[in-house]
Amino acid sequence: MRVGFLYTRMRVEEKLLLEELEKRTGVEVVPISDGDMYFDIRRLPVEIDVLFERSVSYSRGLYISRIFSAHGVPVVNPPEVAERCGDKYLTSQLLVNAGIPTPRVMMAFTEESALAACDSLGYPCVLKPVVGSWGRLLAKADDRVTAEAFIEHKATLGGVNHQIFYIQEYVQKPGRDIRAFVIGEEPIAAIYRSSENWITNTARGGKASNCPLTEEISDLCRKTAQTLGGGLLAIDLFETQEGLTVNEVNHTMEFRNSITTTGVNIPARMVDYVLRVGQKGA
Ligand SMILES: Nc1ncnc2c1ncn2[C@@H]1O[C@H](COP(=O)(O)OP(=O)(O)O)[C@@H](O)[C@H]1O
Ligand SMILES: [Mg+2]
Repeated sequence: MRVGFLYTRMRVEEKLLLEELEKRTGVEVVPISDGDMYFDIRRLPVEIDVLFERSVSYSRGLYISRIFSAHGVPVVNPPEVAERCGDKYLTSQLLVNAGIPTPRVMMAFTEESALAACDSLGYPCVLKPVVGSWGRLLAKADDRVTAEAFIEHKATLGGVNHQIFYIQEYVQKPGRDIRAFVIGEEPIAAIYRSSENWITNTARGGKASNCPLTEEISDLCRKTAQTLGGGLLAIDLFETQEGLTVNEVNHTMEFRNSITTTGVNIPARMVDYVLRVGQKGA
């Protein structure tokens, strides 16, 4: 089987996944760097049986996945799933429609209406870029004056992404949140991410520790994965007084801090899944 491996940079995760792929018999890896090629959309760029998408760039990953998918190659994750996870508005909308608990979100498209949206949510509230990761450009507005400053900064920054205001209710967390790993539609492991900072991403200093998979976590993850289309997902959960709530879902997750922490060989399970998809075909 020929496995296309789409990447931007060889992070720790990509190295672990490639090591795992190399262990498998009958598997040939075809590395595809997402910045080096151009694509004639009339034909399949490279003969492969499955594309394993690990781009750091959301837009490159998405478009290249679409091109392979358009020529009948199955992609992990499929472009539809990547799109739903990569755009925080789309994720939130699908969760709301499915009745899955998730923090309240307001969308606004001008500075005035964004401030009005913050007022209506109450403070603190959180402004996020609809596309982004690693906790970048997240802003927590504790009051109206701060919100006004953030909104003005965002508007002045320009760029399409900054004309869209995604504003979320702030959730009081117990100094940590939960990141659950899903394969297909089944949760396989979870970590707590603890931090003094309200942003708990491990890329920002959050500390990982094992989080036992409770029935509540597993049920919510299954429902969330089904709603988004399944695949290799990392689901961010908050613990609240009213139970768990889903913050966001990641489709090209990092997991380097979660292997020894959970005792689960996450890259091996991911590779198993990709090979299963490759065997089944599109
Ligand atoms: N509404 C919120 N209330 C409380 N904490 C939040 C909220 N939104 C984000 N955070 C914190 O910031 C982190 C990053 O936010 P997230 O929405 O996951 O964006 P990213 O895609 O950058 O990871 C979360 O893991 C969480 O710790
Ligand atoms: Mg996150």
